[in-house]
Amino acid sequence: MTDVPHIPVLIDEVLDALAITPGEIHVDGTFGAGGYSSAMARAGARVFAFDRDPDAIREGQAVADAHGITLIPGEFSRMAEYLAERGIETLSGITLDIGVSSMQLDRAERGFSFQSDGPLTMTMSQDGMSAADFLNNAPEEEIANVIYRYGDEPKSRRVARAIVEARPLERTGQLAAVVRKALGHKPHDKKDPATRTFQAIRIHVNRELEELELALEAAEALLEEGGRLAIVTFHSLEDRIVKQFLRNRSGGDSGGSRHLPERAAGPQPTFAKPAKAVKPGEAELARNPRARSATLRSAIRTSAPAQKSPRSARA
Ligand SMILES: C[S@@+](CC[C@H](N)C(=O)[O-])C[C@H]1O[C@@H](n2cnc3c(N)ncnc32)[C@H](O)[C@@H]1O
Repeated sequence: MTDVPHIPVLIDEVLDALAITPGEIHVDGTFGAGGYSSAMARAGARVFAFDRDPDAIREGQAVADAHGITLIPGEFSRMAEYLAERGIETLSGITLDIGVSSMQLDRAERGFSFQSDGPLTMTMSQDGMSAADFLNNAPEEEIANVIYRYGDEPKSRRVARAIVEARPLERTGQLAAVVRKALGHKPHDKKDPATRTFQAIRIHVNRELEELELALEAAEALLEEGGRLAIVTFHSLEDRIVKQFLRNRSGGDSGGSRHLPERAAGPQPTFAKPAKAVKPGEAELARNPRARSATLRSAIRTSAPAQKSPRSARA
């Protein structure tokens, strides 16, 4: 397979939202190929970047060194703890570009792709439970629930039954064939029927939604007054989590109706009303079709105390 470097998505819009003043400290929670981090450093930020993928860390070290970026191997849900170890307690900006990088998707040996055959791993951090561990050991009902919840697959039960009947599964090609057979793959299908199942298993294996929820809490705790949060997501489940968090923390869902008695005042909003969600324009989509489902949401921290102190990721 090709190994084109990752093209940063919505980079100009992210930089606008971060509004970096030289000398400020910013976190890039998803270093990837370093596209965001290096642009942030060029804008004058002191950047602390994270990635849970050892390949991204190894291959990104030269870029990080060239831009004076501190590159930290680990999950962004634990940023507060990693930063505290380096004496950093507050930040002017945090950005996350959630999801898989082109390097992860395009390398068959990483096991993320249904288009090329590889080992059935799908782990960003290259350790812990793999997709094969999950699919070969979990009960059928749990597999069906994961595929339904994280893949929005209406025929999740049929897919889960086919997976259980085909066990053991060891290769992405095997899994893709099982899913296509279970759902009926027509040559003219615009979208490969395996797409939803692969997305679901990847989200589950990497605990992606839990990571995002923890990172939002960490951002609330770490951003200084006026600090900026900018998050790019690639599917509706993630986008909903960001949207609801920002609505909740900006007082947008405190309700209130002129027909009801006044509610007791809730906690003070920790974020100002978020900016409107941003999608890539035609020019970006022409350059980079992979940007098509990206959504950027951003908001500015108020002076109100954080509503929660950051939890650590699951042990
Ligand atoms: C879409 S890429 C980021 C690309 C980057 N913005 C760039 O311009 O090159 C996402 C990266 O985030 C990493 N990642 C995803 N979830 C993570 C998490 N919870 N903690 C740390 N890194 C994570 C992935 O390993 C991947 O390298």
